[in-house]
Amino acid sequence: MTKLSTKHLLGIKDISTDDINLILTTADSFKEVINRPIKKVPSLRDITIANLFFENSTRTKLSFELAQKRLSADVLNFSSSGSSVKKGETLIDTVNNILAMKVDMVVMRHPNPGAAAFLAKHVDAKIINAGDGAHEHPTQALLDAYSIKEKLGTIKGKKIAIIGDILHSRVALSNIFCLQKLGAEVMVCGPTTLMPKYISSLGVKVEHDLRKALEWCDVANMLRIQMERQDIKYFPSLREYTMLFGLNKDLLDSLSKKIVIMHPGPINRGVEITSDVADSDQSIILNQVENGIAVRMAVLFLLAGRV
Ligand code: CP
Repeated sequence: MTKLSTKHLLGIKDISTDDINLILTTADSFKEVINRPIKKVPSLRDITIANLFFENSTRTKLSFELAQKRLSADVLNFSSSGSSVKKGETLIDTVNNILAMKVDMVVMRHPNPGAAAFLAKHVDAKIINAGDGAHEHPTQALLDAYSIKEKLGTIKGKKIAIIGDILHSRVALSNIFCLQKLGAEVMVCGPTTLMPKYISSLGVKVEHDLRKALEWCDVANMLRIQMERQDIKYFPSLREYTMLFGLNKDLLDSLSKKIVIMHPGPINRGVEITSDVADSDQSIILNQVENGIAVRMAVLFLLAGRV
């Protein structure tokens, strides 16, 4: 198989395992490219891509832009702050105006779940979801899967614990879909108040004791508490959260085996993870960032259909 069976990348739930494997295999070639002295290839010459960010981002925005530039695409960057969205322009009008400038592909981050799927129905361009509210963040899950495979050799049969604010996390949902499709066992761990009610229906194990989750897993993916999405209090204090669900070096060193530590970023150092854990030799956090470029190059290249 050399072509994706999908026109857009809106989420992991609706793409096939073959599509995921094709993206990961293609990313291997691009990982080699980005480590060459000359890192640029002409694969997407004459393709124009608009990056539309209606919500803050550091890693995803920079990673997509660099991936596009490494592939020789023409890149337009739009951020809703400072744009005519502030004057009341709708999403469809904003995007149609950008598409009138002959744009082939749109990468969009938006605070509303379903925004990327809505766009895919209403505009004639290839859409990549760069995070839609608490729904999905497909390229994060793909780069996480790539990083686990790179570190452990395989994903099949591995035990992955996703720990923290599961309720508000698009990373958790996309990771669950992706890792299960690739044959991993997935556990979620966090306070009861930060677990969605439907979580058991996803076929994951649910644990509320951090030590038990860490003893079970091969990989712990530590998530940030998403204060910006919390309109009520879900736990008494950050201090208490850290005492019960924060990972520190003493706890990590006391486990019966060495586990791999991941974090999608941004990290709240000293809350969900201490600095000595984030920066330890068990952490692959910066490998995730590097792999994000290769994985996004693969997604852009395959969706452009220039195979
Ligand atoms: N992991 C992630 O999506 O980070 P940003 O919000 O900085 O893009």
